[in-house]
Amino acid sequence: MTFDDTFDRVTTRSSKWTGMDAYFGLTGDDYLPMWVADMDFVPPDFLTEATRALADAGDYGYFSHVDSYFEAVAWWARTRHGWEIEPGWIIPTASLGNAIAFAIQTWSNPGDAVAMFTPVYHEFAKKIRKNGRLITELPLCTAEGHFTLDFDRYDALMCGTEKILLLCSPHNPGGRVWSADELRAIAAFAERHGLVLVSDEVHNDLILPGFKHAPTALAAPEIVPRLVTMTSASKTFSIAGSRLGAVIIGDADLRRQFAGTVSRADLHPNLLGVALSRAAFSPEGAAWVDALMPYIAGNETAFRTGIGEIPGALVHPLEGTYLAWVDFSATGMTDAELWTRVTDQARVVPSPGPDFGTGGSGGLRFNLGTQRARVDEAVARLTQAFADLQ
Ligand SMILES: Cc1ncc(COP(=O)(O)O)c(C=O)c1O
Repeated sequence: MTFDDTFDRVTTRSSKWTGMDAYFGLTGDDYLPMWVADMDFVPPDFLTEATRALADAGDYGYFSHVDSYFEAVAWWARTRHGWEIEPGWIIPTASLGNAIAFAIQTWSNPGDAVAMFTPVYHEFAKKIRKNGRLITELPLCTAEGHFTLDFDRYDALMCGTEKILLLCSPHNPGGRVWSADELRAIAAFAERHGLVLVSDEVHNDLILPGFKHAPTALAAPEIVPRLVTMTSASKTFSIAGSRLGAVIIGDADLRRQFAGTVSRADLHPNLLGVALSRAAFSPEGAAWVDALMPYIAGNETAFRTGIGEIPGALVHPLEGTYLAWVDFSATGMTDAELWTRVTDQARVVPSPGPDFGTGGSGGLRFNLGTQRARVDEAVARLTQAFADLQ
């Protein structure tokens, strides 16, 4: 199998391919979905074999081999990121979305605020609000198609009720791989304001050639007493349906507090998640990711070159993730005009920029985790839809 091969994600009823009606009210079968963050590639053999082994064994009862998953996570952190962690620092959750909600519940109370750098993964805001907490937005700057941090402004934006700084590293959307210096500045900010730093590193393996992800714990070891790191195989291997996340906490007090929340919810990892994540965090998994990222880089080049021809469209060069951010603000269109043109005319469905919070207006996020032919098709459709601007 190659990354160019397709499989039918409509009959599998994937959210990305069949959820556009429910989510956006878009009915029709000619849309090219580039929204939900999962990939369209044929699953690698080691995942299929792990699933088959489960079926062959035929035992779907309670199980006691979660340790092998913790060891796989620790092995992956060491071999892929140079980060030594103890298996005992890992607390499993049912996905990283679940982990974020638990973090909010553990380290803040209703009425407290959670700070985050916007635009950012839209589910951060949803989970903060659903839990009755407030949001302190710390807007990123855009310098030449590149999101950057602006600490000169951030201290003054804090209202004093923040308990948590929720960081997305690498950054979704915008695809920034934060440098060690940027991570140290973020850690210093969390320290200065007495915050728990929750570092969502779910995109940590999706790094484009020439860039390197630094785990926050390595870039800023001084923050470890306040640090909670979240990782998962769900984005890297597109196994989000198997609902498993790893929360890594070096500090014993923070770990006990988080484990308390998980225990009160009586949450235990599921069999399929453990089997797939263990198969993914392996030498076979490493080889697959090493082949994947040059392919994503090729998609990104094709997309950036093509879309860059549309007057007023600025594609942020991707450093990490497979989620490209396009800033259309120089076209002068409103968000509604932009959305109609892209979905109705081009029949392409990205994620709407305003969903990502302050700084998202005028932008759209495009998922490039798909076959090159589909990226080329998206470029052709979008170029046509914006042809009157030429
Ligand atoms: C930054 C970030 N965190 C968390 C998630 C959700 O991960 P999960 O499917 O494990 O809940 C996503 C999904 O796109 C994401 O981009």
